Amino acid sequence: MTSALGKDLLALEPLSSEQIRLILDTAEPFKEISERSIKKVPTLRGSTIVNLFFEASTRTRISFEFAEKRLSADTVNVASSGSSVSKGETLVDTARNLEAMRIDMVVIRHGASGAAQFLAERIESNVINAGDGTHEHPTQGLLDLLTLRDHFHRLDGLKVCICGDVLHSRVARSNIWGLKKMGAEVAVCGPRSLLPNAIDELGVTVFSRIEDAIQWADALNVLRLQLERMQGGYIPSLREYNRVFGVTSERLARAPKDVLILHPGPMNRGVEIDSDVADGPHSVILNQVTNGVAIRMAVLYLLSGGRPELAEAAKGGGGR
Ligand code: CP
Repeated sequence: MTSALGKDLLALEPLSSEQIRLILDTAEPFKEISERSIKKVPTLRGSTIVNLFFEASTRTRISFEFAEKRLSADTVNVASSGSSVSKGETLVDTARNLEAMRIDMVVIRHGASGAAQFLAERIESNVINAGDGTHEHPTQGLLDLLTLRDHFHRLDGLKVCICGDVLHSRVARSNIWGLKKMGAEVAVCGPRSLLPNAIDELGVTVFSRIEDAIQWADALNVLRLQLERMQGGYIPSLREYNRVFGVTSERLARAPKDVLILHPGPMNRGVEIDSDVADGPHSVILNQVTNGVAIRMAVLYLLSGGRPELAEAAKGGGGR
């Protein structure tokens, strides 16, 4: 059966605004399951899901695993170290071997842009991209949208500035596509060395001063400086970066209104964001993490053929 999202979730770029709204709306009833004392419904009982994480992850990997377990799927976690990938087995051979054991879905994080699509074109199981290189991180983009919608009760017309290391960020790309499709105004702010050359083609406003971004925005999505992807020369020093581009309470105090603060994590405290902002009253960083479970439950449910109108009933166990 073809789901409302198609076979796979690889990116937000190819999704329609209706598909994105469907995922956000489907996540709403799933939020409540995580608030119960027994956080489990039988919706995906009998489904087998493999989490293939070839890059480090805390939030995304654990969030997918919680989402799968709360829907009663059987899950297996595979990392490159400790699997035959470390002996040179290819990604496709690994996945085909897993399919031979009759799995239903693969969640994949990989350091190469396009790895999720490459896999999706070669296996029958549903594939969910949990972050591929610098391409996209669609479920992070979706949970960011849900967190913004929770707070502002709309996305249309919202002014969101994505700050920092846009060049290396799959989160930035998913946010830009998702926010624009939902009618938000999107800006980016960072040193020119950390913005893609083709940034103007993405239809976003570019701020070169964080003070101007803060004056303009309803919300800032502050990105981690991806030091592990930098070969050097992008910024003079971490201290200098914080001095010029850091999101600090002093800078936010000069804004004409309260600015909502998001960060996908993990944070470099004292670099792109100061601790009193990350832990302050306008931060929704932990709300993003909470929403991540509901978004991933919604994506798993919809890709498995779950009917959107039955998501509320699925909370009680029915609905596929
Ligand atoms: N936001 C995010 O992708 O975090 P992890 O790398 O910890 O999964």
